[in-house]
Amino acid sequence: MKRVKIVSTGSYLPEKVLTNHDLEKMVDTSDEWITTRTGIKERHIAAENEATSDLILKAAKKALEKANLKPEDLDGIIVATITPDNTYPSTACWVQKGLGLDNIPVFDIAAACTGFIYGLIMAESLIKSGLMKRVLVAGADTLSKFTNWEDRSTCVLFGDGAGVAIVEESDDESGIISRCWGANGNLGDLLIQPAGGSKMPPTKETVEKKLHTVHMEGNKVFRWAVRYMSEAALKVIKLAGMKGEDVDLFIPHQANIRIIEQARKYANIPPEKTYIVIDKIANISAATIPIALDMAIDEGRVKKGDILVFDAFGGGFTWGAILLKW
Ligand code: UT7
Repeated sequence: MKRVKIVSTGSYLPEKVLTNHDLEKMVDTSDEWITTRTGIKERHIAAENEATSDLILKAAKKALEKANLKPEDLDGIIVATITPDNTYPSTACWVQKGLGLDNIPVFDIAAACTGFIYGLIMAESLIKSGLMKRVLVAGADTLSKFTNWEDRSTCVLFGDGAGVAIVEESDDESGIISRCWGANGNLGDLLIQPAGGSKMPPTKETVEKKLHTVHMEGNKVFRWAVRYMSEAALKVIKLAGMKGEDVDLFIPHQANIRIIEQARKYANIPPEKTYIVIDKIANISAATIPIALDMAIDEGRVKKGDILVFDAFGGGFTWGAILLKW
C-alpha cells in the first residue's frame, strides 16, 4: 500500500508579540523564571477580532499557493483545536466557507496539544481507505482568549497561531512510515477548562471565577508529559525499525524545553537534530508542530529523504507520534 505524505505546509502567527518583560508588568513573574523554567521568551497574541478560523485561513492560503493548488482541489478539511470559533458550527465549517467551498466533508477534532498528530493520522487513514485523495489538516489555537491573565502559573505559557499541512498519497518512498496515538481520560482533571460546556454551562458566577480559562496542575502534567512523549517518540522509531540516531529532525510539541530535552534523551535523538522554537512561539497547543514544521522547511532544515519525527502530549490526556520520510 502506498504511503501518505505532506505535500505542502503553511503557518500564521498573529502580529502582536507579548514578551516576558511585558508579562513582568502584568503579573508577579520574571523573564528569568519563565526562561529557565520553560524556555519561553515571547508569544504571539491574536487580535480581538481574530478567531481561530481566521488564523487557519491565512495559513491554508499560503499552503495552497505553495503547492499550486486551488481550494477546489481539496477533498476534506480536518481542524484540530480546543479553542473553536463556536461550539458549533465547527471551526472547519468556517474555514470551508472562507475558502469558498460548499460541499466537501469537514470536521473538528479535540485532542488538545496532540490534535495535529491525531488529524494527520485520520487524514492518512481516510486517504488509504480511498475515501479522500487530498486533505487539509490544520492545527490552530487562540489560547490567549481562554487564559486567566491574573494567574502567573498559566498565563506565561501559551500563545496563538495556526499551522496547516496538505496531505495526499505518495508516489515514491516518502510519507508516513509509523505512527502511535493514545489517550487516558482518567487524568482529564489535571488540565482542563472547567466551565463553558454541558457539565458547567457559562453563568455570571463561572465567568467571575474565570472557570472558562485553562486550569492546570503544572507539576503533575509535567511528569506525565515526559513519560508519554518519551514513550511515543521511541515507539514510532522502533516501529519503523530505526534508532534515535537515524532521525534527521525531531519536531516535538513545545510546552516546556525541559520536557523536550527529557523526551529527546529517552529516544536517543541528538540535540542538534531537535527543532526548538518555544522561545519565539511558546505553547500553541495543536498549532505548535505544524508551525514548527513550516518554519523548519523555510529555514532549509528539511530535505528530501530526511526522517522526521513529530511527538506530542496534551490535555485529556492525549499523546501521539509520527515518523515519516520527507
Ligand atoms: O501542552 C501540554 C500540557 N502542558 C504542559 O506540558 C506543561 C507542563 N508543566 C510545566 O511545564 C511546568 O510544570 C510549569 C512551567 C507550568 C511550572 O514549572 P515548575 O517547575 O513545575 O514550577 P512549579 O509549578 O513547581 O512552581 C515552582 C514555583 C512556585 O513557587 P513556590 O511555591 O515554590 O514558592 C510557583 O508559585 O514557581 C512559582 N511560579 C512562578 N514564579 C514566577 C509559578 N509560576 C510562576 C511564574 N513566575 N510565572
